[in-house]
Amino acid sequence: MNNFNLYTPTRILFGKGSIQELRAQIPADARVLITYGGGSVKKTGVLDQVHQALQGLDVLEFGGIEPNPTYETLMKAVELARAENITFLLAVGGGSVLDGTKFIAAAAQYPQGVDPWEILETSGSKITRAIPMGSVLTLPATGSESNKGAVISRKATGDKQAFHSPWVQPVFAILDPVYTYTLPARQVANGVVDAFVHTIEQYLTYPVNAKIQDRFAEGILLTLIEEGPKALQEPENYDVRANVMWAATMALNGLIGAGVPQDWATHMLGHELTAMHGLDHAQTLAIVLPALMNEKRQQKREKLLQYAERVWNITSGGEDQRIDAAIAATRQFFESLGVPTRLGDWNLDGSSIPALLTKLEEHGMTQLGERKDITLDVSRRIYEAAR
Ligand code: NZQ
Ligand code: ZN
Repeated sequence: MNNFNLYTPTRILFGKGSIQELRAQIPADARVLITYGGGSVKKTGVLDQVHQALQGLDVLEFGGIEPNPTYETLMKAVELARAENITFLLAVGGGSVLDGTKFIAAAAQYPQGVDPWEILETSGSKITRAIPMGSVLTLPATGSESNKGAVISRKATGDKQAFHSPWVQPVFAILDPVYTYTLPARQVANGVVDAFVHTIEQYLTYPVNAKIQDRFAEGILLTLIEEGPKALQEPENYDVRANVMWAATMALNGLIGAGVPQDWATHMLGHELTAMHGLDHAQTLAIVLPALMNEKRQQKREKLLQYAERVWNITSGGEDQRIDAAIAATRQFFESLGVPTRLGDWNLDGSSIPALLTKLEEHGMTQLGERKDITLDVSRRIYEAAR
């Protein structure tokens, strides 16, 4: 096992009715800005519940944060937060609202006169302060509710980039599985695929004899395989929703990634697909991952065989056959959730691959993967195999 330094300071308030705990998490003298997305939280009544819980506090709102939140929209909230001297941000929604709010938190306190897009260009390394934030999550997928990462897009330039900073990790997360009953099937499936791939990015590398991390990761994968389809079939099954929600949080809160090599190439290749073609985040992952597994089958051989056996129960046949079967099972799982696994399924014929590679290069993504051996040439082969 590798050395690690793990600190996960997000208070998790999990379960039915946990909105009751919200008021006590926010300082009584706070000036709060509630942030939300395109309006789902108004329709579902979650926003009303938040307002009720915060009665008596000084509260403002900023709505309209879009999926794959954009710099252009978020800068309006930054202006508002600065003008109104906001002291606490409360994100109510999915990963996009949470990520967008992380950007607002850091950008509002970024040095005046410096364009906060620099946060993305420097991966968050120059952040030295941020407005504290909390979250009420309505879509289990990204793990953003209890991690320090965020992904922001910029319409004008077609960029989608990530940043990380301990300053933007939410101080609490209200996780009520009931809030996920209203999710459209597409978002339920997206969430399951995203959490699955987060787990894979931290698991399917090379062995370092990290048994706890491996078995936790396998537990998350098995739970998603078991409960993901049920969440689609029985949208109001509380236990199913609770297990999916907790799986998604655990998949990217730092725990399973501590002390192990991490890949993240699927995500980096996927972000370019979203930025260029507008596919949902998870839709891009379902396309890239099977192709990447096949491309890296030698380097990932031991973990692929472990994955085949412990997650898919594939124990017969030669090594290559078992790896083929595990890749096929992964593809089949995504497709059974209604998430296609080929570029062609989205009418993309691969003609944009050179442009995707140019963007990867521009973003410094020329040595990806746990061994830093996914060069632009390897990325090209992965995109091509994903057609
Ligand atoms: O915008 P509203 O109206 O709220 O509707 C949203 C949105 O249209 C809707 N929705 C959310 N909760 C709902 C609901 N509809 C009905 N009932 C509910 N309970 O779902 C749609 C998608 O929401 P979005 O927040 O975009 O989805 P998700 O949570 O999958 O977030 C995706 C974003 O997170 C980034 C992705 O790149 C993408 O930008 N990621 C963030 C990560 C992180 N911070 O650690 C890691 C991930 O790998 C990922 O990159
Ligand atoms: Zn993801």
